[in-house]
Amino acid sequence: MPAEPLTGPPRGPSAAEVLAELGALRAADAPTRGGRTFAYVYDAGLDGLDELASAAYTAFATVNGLDPTVFPSVARLENEVVGAVAALLGAPGAQGTFTSGGTESILLAVKTARDHARAERGVTAPQLVIPSTAHAAFHKAAHYLGLEAVVVPVDPVSFRADAAATAAAVTDRTVLVVASAPSYAHGVVDPVAEIAAAAAARGVLCHVDACIGGWLLPHLRRAGRKVEPFDLSVPGVTSLSVDLHKYGYADKGASVVLYRDAELRRHQYFAHAGWPGYPVVNPTVQGTKSGGLLAQAWAVLRYVGEDGYTALARRVADASDRLLAGLRGLGGVRVLGEPAAGLVAFTVLAEGEGAADTGLLLHLADEMRIRGWYLQPQLSFDGLPANLHLTLTPATVDRVDALLADLGDALEAARALPPVTVDPGLVELAAGLDPAALGPQEVAGVLAFAGLDGDGGLPERMAPVLALLDALPGALKERLLAEFIGSVFRI
Ligand SMILES: Cc1ncc(COP(=O)(O)O)c(C=O)c1O
Repeated sequence: MPAEPLTGPPRGPSAAEVLAELGALRAADAPTRGGRTFAYVYDAGLDGLDELASAAYTAFATVNGLDPTVFPSVARLENEVVGAVAALLGAPGAQGTFTSGGTESILLAVKTARDHARAERGVTAPQLVIPSTAHAAFHKAAHYLGLEAVVVPVDPVSFRADAAATAAAVTDRTVLVVASAPSYAHGVVDPVAEIAAAAAARGVLCHVDACIGGWLLPHLRRAGRKVEPFDLSVPGVTSLSVDLHKYGYADKGASVVLYRDAELRRHQYFAHAGWPGYPVVNPTVQGTKSGGLLAQAWAVLRYVGEDGYTALARRVADASDRLLAGLRGLGGVRVLGEPAAGLVAFTVLAEGEGAADTGLLLHLADEMRIRGWYLQPQLSFDGLPANLHLTLTPATVDRVDALLADLGDALEAARALPPVTVDPGLVELAAGLDPAALGPQEVAGVLAFAGLDGDGGLPERMAPVLALLDALPGALKERLLAEFIGSVFRI
């Protein structure tokens, strides 16, 4: 039955009732606080921080960040937030912009590089050189902005970008080379200095994607850990992205993209005076935007402070050390690469064989979910194994022992389940399909076969669905994912 239209009743309910309705909607969500959800959420575990962020947002919610001449507070806040980022990760002359998130920061960095290369080098068919572990946002940027993504395989043991292979992939059409600090998928830091030097030697820009690590790594260094230089102080690095809504613990919608100088940043801006409306100048993708997100990020940075972030980084590193030691002590588990802290990816091995077992891994994810933990499944890609991914936050420190105990039990339970099987006939059939030529009915048929019934809901056990997805060719996977999400947002 269709839900009542949002604005259906002639008179809306009271504010308290509206808030109660919203609160009830959260019941089925993964918990965002408390340290049991190991993806998507960043919980500093600090008393009063959420309340501060909400109050700061509210104070600026109605301010329009579109025009800092009408709302000078926006310029002041943004200069101070970007200034804090530049002080930590910049170099003399660095300039940047506050954006809505990592994806927007990356889109803007790629647009900047494209337009810079067109203006300075006359590049009209731009290429973007990225390691295979670079975040999907770079593919999105290439797709949106008309660049060709040149993907370079990473080292299959360390999962780090291969600097020599990256250098070899640079051509006269390359406008930007990318390194991650660290990568999301495996949490390992790429050889930034070597990649940046190779790019500079060819006169090409180099972006460091420090969306997830940019606020954590310098504070880990301050806490006494060894962290290789990765920021704009490294010769050849020309831009960097860092998300304040990750290890800066601001609410979602807060990131910064930083450039080596104003000349480069200029290519990011869009100005338009060729219409009869107000003169437009947009540094970012959005036009109108609330001042609230900027204000809450400013408030969180100011409240936590340098020592606070150092203490939080220490807690993340402790959680990471304990988790890694525990995982390495669990039989049949293999941690992927040498994670820099914060992110951990591991796979599980078939009994006796020593080979990664994707079905068992996906059973394990289900078993952990049943026990109240969310670990994020990541599928296999180009010889890199499927794995479970954990994002550690200060709030997870006290959960590590309980997590490891449940992991041991869950792994035993997963091994006792019938193996996940994928029909080889279906995989063969799927391999021959042209995803672009499939109609909605056919795609719905494949989704239904996979156990997704088209109402946007998910089955209790995801292992069979994900195992099938894992076995399908990439383009078909993408078509199914798009169709599935269309069924989630069904109106
Ligand atoms: C390394 C890295 N880059 C980019 C992104 C994309 O950021 P967002 O989800 O904020 O758009 C992420 C998100 O996890 C990330 O880890």
